[in-house]
Amino acid sequence: MDKNIIYLGSSESMSNIEDKSISLIVTSPPYNINVKYGNKVVNRKIVESKSTKYKDNLQESEYRALLRRVFDECKRVLKDDGSIWINIKNRYINGKILTPYWIEDFFDDMYLKIVIIWNFDWGGSTNTRFAPRYEYVFWFTKHKSNYIFNLDDVKVPALNYRPDRYKSQFKNPSDVWRIPMVSGNFEERTGHPAQFPEKLIERIVKVASNEGDIVLDPFMGSGTTAVVAKKLNRYFIGYEIVEEYVKMAEERLALLKEKDTYKQLEIKFWEELANE
Ligand SMILES: C[S@@+](CC[C@H](N)C(=O)[O-])C[C@H]1O[C@@H](n2cnc3c(N)ncnc32)[C@H](O)[C@@H]1O
Repeated sequence: MDKNIIYLGSSESMSNIEDKSISLIVTSPPYNINVKYGNKVVNRKIVESKSTKYKDNLQESEYRALLRRVFDECKRVLKDDGSIWINIKNRYINGKILTPYWIEDFFDDMYLKIVIIWNFDWGGSTNTRFAPRYEYVFWFTKHKSNYIFNLDDVKVPALNYRPDRYKSQFKNPSDVWRIPMVSGNFEERTGHPAQFPEKLIERIVKVASNEGDIVLDPFMGSGTTAVVAKKLNRYFIGYEIVEEYVKMAEERLALLKEKDTYKQLEIKFWEELANE
């Protein structure tokens, strides 16, 4: 089975992947809100909006049927101690918020372990409601109690640390993650309209997989999951339906250098955020 590869094609059939071979699946599916996917990209920036390949405005029933086919495949390829992490958000349709809790229907044979609130400061605004500043990450495990969870690898500085009271200066992160959205001036920014930040995926890859494991993203987009997996010494496999995005992801991967490791940056990042 090939590893470190992004297939151009739909993840509704992932026949290149063997049963029970993947430790971690992390993804952000299309949201069906008419995002213009399929733009022409030069040097990792969009130069022309084409929106040809994937229509992000399917009938809701077609959209959910597509996701069901993809997630059924995800369950087939997932190892018994593996897990699936899905980043998804509220949609505002016809004057109403539609929450994404319907995603749970696809995983009634798995264990929902937590719903993370990913909070950020930047994004679209409106003066008819409060500005939306969070998305969700749903975490499902295949097994009730036997799953990879490397808590020590993702602990954060305990801001109220007192040597006389606590054993460690580090603590378990909460289920609210404050991580900046990728904005225009970010080094990692590509021309993809729905890129998620490396920091968000980094914590998930560290906690839910081990070095040498395979991480799958069935909706790979600009390649964030692949980049993070590679930096953390995991293998990756991805599927993406738009050719320009596959190229974009491959360019990002090619730019990675040996020295690209998160170790040095990790503590600095959380300290800066805490001091904001
Ligand atoms: C929300 S975006 C993912 C963005 C990604 N997380 C990133 O950081 O760039 C969803 C992606 O799924 C792709 N897509 C839509 N339908 C697909 C399918 N059936 N199979 C594979 N990819 C698909 C879209 O082209 C889009 O790039």
